[in-house]
Amino acid sequence: MTNSVDDPARRVCRVIAVANQKGGVGKTTTALNLATSIAMAGRRVLLVDADPQANLTSGVGLKHRRAAGGTVYDALMADTIDDPGRFILPTTIDHLSLMPSDRHLTGAEVELVDLQDREHRLKRVLDAARLRFDYIFIDCPPSLGLLTLNALVAADTVLVPLHCEYFALEGLADLVDTMRRVQGSLNPALDIEGVLLTMYDERTNLGQQVARDVRAFFQDKVYRTVIPRNIRLGEAPSHGIPAVLYDVKSRGAEAYVALAHEVLARPAA
Ligand SMILES: Nc1ncnc2c1ncn2[C@@H]1O[C@H](COP(=O)(O)OP(=O)(O)OP(=O)(O)O)[C@@H](O)[C@H]1O
Ligand SMILES: [Mg+2]
Repeated sequence: MTNSVDDPARRVCRVIAVANQKGGVGKTTTALNLATSIAMAGRRVLLVDADPQANLTSGVGLKHRRAAGGTVYDALMADTIDDPGRFILPTTIDHLSLMPSDRHLTGAEVELVDLQDREHRLKRVLDAARLRFDYIFIDCPPSLGLLTLNALVAADTVLVPLHCEYFALEGLADLVDTMRRVQGSLNPALDIEGVLLTMYDERTNLGQQVARDVRAFFQDKVYRTVIPRNIRLGEAPSHGIPAVLYDVKSRGAEAYVALAHEVLARPAA
């Protein structure tokens, strides 16, 4: 079947930035478990850790590990990218690779300022890697600085995790504003991949109210799948294993597998 999306010749890589400048809303947990679920479905997936906290790198058990060419920091600073594979490590999970990070990336926010094409440095690397992967997920830091800007310029779409709490929508205006500016000049094709409700507690009226408000605002951009507050999702990172493998029967893991089905069902643009 030549028209099948599973025909390798027809596969197009989708680069998805997982972004929200608010801290602790589930960006890393989402990037990690969604990417792992999609890799488990047989797609070739690259995780890019664009956060100096390097939680994503720890989450796949590769803390302090560097690829032959170093980390994402070295990739951003390199004069030329001959082989993006030099900045990529295999993980213990089939089809899942990682461009790792460490705390040196903190300096990049400052060092990038003086570099040529400072907003396009990550795009340069990831465009060179597109042929090797079906999906690339970029885990952004909790800020709207140059690292997140690089992610938004490199990405096709943005996935926004929203913590189901009272101020969920507050501050989102800044992210939407930044996306508009990027669409206006640096990356006109940037689109919203989807909005994901995270850490949902159905027992509280507040959680239900926030979910209703977010759906009223973002409408069909909000995933049907909602990620519940689930202790397993919090525990898994300390074992260096994504929750979808650590406890596959947990409600958190099941939710991320369901989310992966939703993401995979969306046709490539
Ligand atoms: N659905 C959930 N239920 C319970 N705990 C969760 C859930 N999602 C994430 N956590 C935990 O909450 C904390 C914050 O999550 P995470 O690191 O994914 O957020 P983040 O947005 O990447 O944070 P940062 O902005 O610091 O990068 C982590 O300890 C994580 O394990
Ligand atoms: Mg994070």
